[in-house]
Amino acid sequence: MKILSIETSCDETAVAVLEAEGAYNNTTFQVRGNALYSQAKKHAAFGGVYPSLAKREHAANLAPLLGTALREARLSIPNTQKLTSEQKEYLQKLLVREEGLYRALVTYVEHIEKPALDAIAVTHGPGLEPALWVGINFARALSYIWKLPILPVNHLEGHIVASAVHAEDERAQKYAVEEITFPLLGLIVSGGHTEFVYAEGWGKYRVIGSTRDDSIGEAFDKVARLMGVPYPGGPELSRLANKGRQALATRPAHLMSAIKKMPRPMIQSGDLDFSFSGLKTAVLYQVQELGELSDIQRHLLCAEFEDAVRDVIITKTTRALEQYPARTFVLGGGVSANTHIRKSLEKMFVTNELGCTLRLPAEGLSTDNAVMIGMAGYFMHLRNEPMLDAKDNLIASGNLKF
Ligand code: KG4
Ligand code: ZN
Repeated sequence: MKILSIETSCDETAVAVLEAEGAYNNTTFQVRGNALYSQAKKHAAFGGVYPSLAKREHAANLAPLLGTALREARLSIPNTQKLTSEQKEYLQKLLVREEGLYRALVTYVEHIEKPALDAIAVTHGPGLEPALWVGINFARALSYIWKLPILPVNHLEGHIVASAVHAEDERAQKYAVEEITFPLLGLIVSGGHTEFVYAEGWGKYRVIGSTRDDSIGEAFDKVARLMGVPYPGGPELSRLANKGRQALATRPAHLMSAIKKMPRPMIQSGDLDFSFSGLKTAVLYQVQELGELSDIQRHLLCAEFEDAVRDVIITKTTRALEQYPARTFVLGGGVSANTHIRKSLEKMFVTNELGCTLRLPAEGLSTDNAVMIGMAGYFMHLRNEPMLDAKDNLIASGNLKF
C-alpha cells in the first residue's frame, strides 16, 4: 500500500511517501519520499511556536514539499491534467484560508499525472489547531483531486509507532516491526506532551500519567532560553550539558560546589504524573543568583538540569512498570532524541529484571516527521478503521486524546 502522509501539527511541515506491507506482526515500511521543512528558526524570535506564523509557513511550504516527496518517490510524472472549473471552484473554497496554497497546489497538480497512491494519512490532532487545519485541508484537496481515501492520524500514535519500528537499513530508509509483545507502555516526551500511555494492543491506548504543567520539551526549551540558547533549545542544551559532564569528570572536587543541586519534581509521589515548572523556576533562581554565567557554570547548570529530567524519567518509568507490568516499553517524541536520556534508559533496561524490551526511535523519527504519520496510518488501515472521503467531516482536534 502506498501512502502519502502529511504532518503540520506544530512547526515542522512534512510530507512523505511510504510503501507499507504486511500484517501487524510483520510489517515493513519503505520510505520512498521524505520532505521536511523545519520552521524553528522563524519562530526563534518569538521564543516558541507562534501559531499564525506556523499556519502561514505550512501554507507556503506544503505544495513544494509535496513536489519534493513525489519526485523522490518517482511519482511526479510530468503530464497535463487540467482541472475543471467546478473542481477549481471547490478547491478554492476549501483552501480559502490557506494563503497561496490553492494557486501553488493547482499549478503543480495540473502538470503531473495522478500519482500511483492508495491513501493519504494526515495528522488531525493533537497540536496547534490553525496549523493542523492547513494539513487537513491540503489532504482533503488532494483526496478530492486524486480520489484517494483519507486516514486521520493521531500525532501521538505516530510517535509511538515510530518508536516501535526498527531500522532494517537506515540509509535505505527501510523500517520493520516484527512481533511487538503487549502490553506496551509508552512514554511520550515532546514539546507538547509528557505522558505515559498503556496499550493492550495496537490502537487500544490509555493515558495513565501526564504532566500537570510544562511538558519535558517545553522545560528543555525554556531552560535553554535562560542560558541564551534560542528556540528550540533542547538539542543545544544537551550539547552544553555534555560539556559540563566532561568538565566534572576531570575536575570534580573544585566544580561540584559551583552550582546548586536542582530539584527532581514529583519523584517521590506515588503516581505517574509529572511537573516541570518548578525545575525550570529553580534553574531561573540559580541563574539570577549567579548573575552573569561563566561558560563552565552554564555547562554545569545544563548538566544538572538534564540529570534532573533524566532522574525523573528513570524513576517514573520504573514505577510505571511496577504498576503496569508491560512487555515492551517505547520512548517517543522529540526529547527521545536526547542521547543522555536514551543512554540512561538503555542502561536501566539492561540491568532490570522486568522482562520488558526497550525500543527507541531511529534517528530522524524522534522529532516530528511525516514518515511516522504514514506508519500510524497504515496501522489504522490494518485495524480496518474507517477511511474518509474528501467531503466527509474531518476537523482539527487540538486536544485530541487517545
Ligand atoms: O515531538 P516534537 O518534534 O514536537 C512536538 O510534537 O511537540 O518535539 C519537539 C521538542 C522540542 O521541545 C525540542 O527542544 C525537543 O523536542 N528536543 C530535544 C532534543 N531534540 C529535540 N530535547 C532534548 N534533547 C534533544 N536532543
Ligand atoms: Zn510530536
